[in-house]
Amino acid sequence: MSATPTAAAIHAILADIADPETGRPLTAMGQVVSVVADASTIAVTVGLTTHSALLWNATRARIEERLRTAFPQIAKVSVTIAPHDRPPLKLGQLGVEAKSVIAVGSGKGGVGKSTIATSIAIGLARAGSRTGLLDADVYGPSVPHLVGLSGRPQIENGKIVPQMLDVGRSQMPVMSMGFMVPPGEAVVWRGPMLHGAITQMLRDTLWGPLDYLVIDMPPGTGDVALTLSQALPLSGAVVVCTPQDVALLDATKAIAMFRKVNIPLLGMVENMSFFVCPDTQKRYDIFGTGGARRTAQELDIPFLGEVPIQIPIREHGDAGRTAANFDDPASRPYFEAICERLIGNLAATAAAKPPMPSLPVL
Ligand SMILES: Nc1ncnc2c1ncn2[C@@H]1O[C@H](COP(=O)(O)OP(=O)(O)O)[C@@H](O)[C@H]1O
Ligand SMILES: [Mg+2]
Repeated sequence: MSATPTAAAIHAILADIADPETGRPLTAMGQVVSVVADASTIAVTVGLTTHSALLWNATRARIEERLRTAFPQIAKVSVTIAPHDRPPLKLGQLGVEAKSVIAVGSGKGGVGKSTIATSIAIGLARAGSRTGLLDADVYGPSVPHLVGLSGRPQIENGKIVPQMLDVGRSQMPVMSMGFMVPPGEAVVWRGPMLHGAITQMLRDTLWGPLDYLVIDMPPGTGDVALTLSQALPLSGAVVVCTPQDVALLDATKAIAMFRKVNIPLLGMVENMSFFVCPDTQKRYDIFGTGGARRTAQELDIPFLGEVPIQIPIREHGDAGRTAANFDDPASRPYFEAICERLIGNLAATAAAKPPMPSLPVL
């Protein structure tokens, strides 16, 4: 075997790897931008259509691994992803510029919805996507507490400057009613006020252009889902629940509600799935187990993954350091797997159908 791989041999490997969005071989649509090889180096540049940094990273890793395995004599393998950088569209009539909008809901409070929504946003931002997080739980805003942000936002030219969360490689804009209402103060929201508060936070916040906007929804009631479905084209909703029967029943109702207002279901997450005792390593299924996976299957919704009960997850939340769940090797794989499955499914459905048209704002 000659030391320098031929361009044909490298193309053959790329032909066996699918585009994460279209599912077609990378070689099928002229996505291989360049292939350069000599006796010590292979450098490949591939164009991708998806806007997901997670999928760029995963595809880059997959190509690198395949090339390294096929050509072990080559010291340096470098893969560059050249995304098609289309700017985000203004969505709906509120002027939010985003490529995908992901709502995270549940039927029941206390199942960890805000923790999962916040972690999904942080996971996407850490991978390199421009991500914003909107806490639409105006009754019980908990995102400020979970990420350690507080204080009234600045107003600039009539627009709200969101608080910025440091996620390592970038700053993520976060907006919540918790920044507007003093902590501990009860606000009685009526339907129209709720609608107004959410549309205002969407419309008047200086989000900047986003790849993803993640929305933490209040539990239960369809009001907010209806408002959101009218305000902007949602890519879809993720439903969080625990394996307990009552939570599953409420999640089933939440799913029916999303379907009623035509919000596509992106998948189900099972939180508090099990507990592994740190002392004995024995596993306890505190709320039962596998219920969400079964329910997802019955309702024909993707299952995105599970998160066990871990004391550090609660501690990080209470310390305003939810991002630390990604630094902890015991919890990181669960959150990363959920982000990867979610984004993979989203990319596949985005390629299959155009975004939903938005209805006029009421
Ligand atoms: N997997 C988990 N392990 C341990 N504690 C968790 C887990 N998920 C959530 N929590 C904790 O449970 C509480 C409720 O979570 P939260 O995300 O606010 O729920 P929700 O938004 O559904 O009301 C928080 O204190 C949070 O830190
Ligand atoms: Mg919450």
